[in-house]
Amino acid sequence: PALAALLRDMPKAELHVHIEGTLEPELIFALAERNQVDLPYADVASLREAYAFSDLQSFLDIYYAGASVLLHEQDFYDMARAYLARAVSDHVLHAEIFFDPQTHTARGVPMASVINGLYRACRDAERDWGISCTLILCFLRHLSEDDAFRTLAQAMPLRDRFIGIGLDSSELGHPPEKFARVFAHCRELGLHLVAHAGEEGPAAYVWSALDTLQVERIDHGVQAHQDEALMQRLARERIALTVCPLSNQKLQVFPDLALHNLPQMLDAGVAVTVNSDDPAYFGGYINENFEQLFAATGMGPRQAYQLARNSLEAGFVGEARKKAWV
Ligand code: ADE
Ligand code: ZN
Repeated sequence: PALAALLRDMPKAELHVHIEGTLEPELIFALAERNQVDLPYADVASLREAYAFSDLQSFLDIYYAGASVLLHEQDFYDMARAYLARAVSDHVLHAEIFFDPQTHTARGVPMASVINGLYRACRDAERDWGISCTLILCFLRHLSEDDAFRTLAQAMPLRDRFIGIGLDSSELGHPPEKFARVFAHCRELGLHLVAHAGEEGPAAYVWSALDTLQVERIDHGVQAHQDEALMQRLARERIALTVCPLSNQKLQVFPDLALHNLPQMLDAGVAVTVNSDDPAYFGGYINENFEQLFAATGMGPRQAYQLARNSLEAGFVGEARKKAWV
């Protein structure tokens, strides 16, 4: 119980959450009704029943279908507002939120509706609850690099409203180097860079995210454990990994949380963090990820403290703010 209270109450940062992955079934149905969107599920219960995933792609198919109810700026605001309220109650001091604009612009939703709705929710949450919150625009890696360039161009009028660029969606067959030119361009624009790598894909994708894309953090990165030289580099350079235990379990990366490699990576000196990825789909927000991981692996207060500290140190925030946190 003392450990559970520590995990729950300790201040932390969330650095890997897809805002579309926080869309709860109840909100999906409410927005479907508000926007007159037809869903291929009769009700909340039958939608939830479809949340049984065998791998990343089986999840992504349902995740993109759920996002189809998002049409207007207010929809994006409502979704982010609900997530941020939840993050505050989990003692998240700072959240860096991923969003997937191509999922929406491909359906005719204006880029400005997406970004302005999310941005307004961030500013309101900072004002109302004191949480710090920033946005990271993710390119979908199953689409082309040209599509990513067009997406970036659409977002440039709102450049001041997001701090970085990420890379997500189907990993296998879409290595980081597919996006070398657009990441180089984003780097010149002064954007922070992250990428999903080594979730289902090989350690080689983590190397190329670091060397070709020059990312500052790796999202997931759990397959790095296969490669001793890579582990040593991650530890030496203090490159943070944003690990998502319940996601890894539900997508069968580690079907049993007791076999998750986060404790070993932490022991090896890698700056791992605990995050929620797509909490509405994977059965829990950040505190649930901490609690279930600790219950399954037997980690204790020392590791809890280190993980919280890692998360606050790995955020894209000024050194002065960081000092106040850690
Ligand atoms: N988009 C949302 N969640 C994702 C994940 N876990 N991996 C890749 N793309 C995603
Ligand atoms: Zn993710």
